[in-house]
Amino acid sequence: MTYKHFFIKAPIVSLKGQPAILFDGKRETLLEALEYKKVKVFSECRNGFCGACKTQIISGEVSYIKEPLAELKANECLPCCCIPQTDLNLALSMDNVELAVRSKSINKKPSTQPKEALELSFNIETATAQQN
Ligand code: FES
Repeated sequence: MTYKHFFIKAPIVSLKGQPAILFDGKRETLLEALEYKKVKVFSECRNGFCGACKTQIISGEVSYIKEPLAELKANECLPCCCIPQTDLNLALSMDNVELAVRSKSINKKPSTQPKEALELSFNIETATAQQN
């Protein structure tokens, strides 16, 4: 057994080439993951029967949780009943997609004192320490 057995990379779902979702298994289907990110995908039955959610795959592979009954071309998938098997690029719009942005100051406590007050406080403490 090698390290590769322990570190399986979560597939990245891109929309027209723009990475949008890390499919980490928190959502049961590709449709749920897309909806969570506010990607517009029309759906009705959500079980692979109607074909309403049919989406074009630009690149990548999916596997089906339930075998779909709707007819599909080789480059199409039904997000309501599949999950990505590889990184996936879908022909869907990025409109309204919520992208996560990492904050640079995530561990910093905001200062409640202005900079001049902090410098003055430091000078007073330093002067007091030098006198003692
Ligand atoms: S919503 Fe009906 S097949 Fe996906």
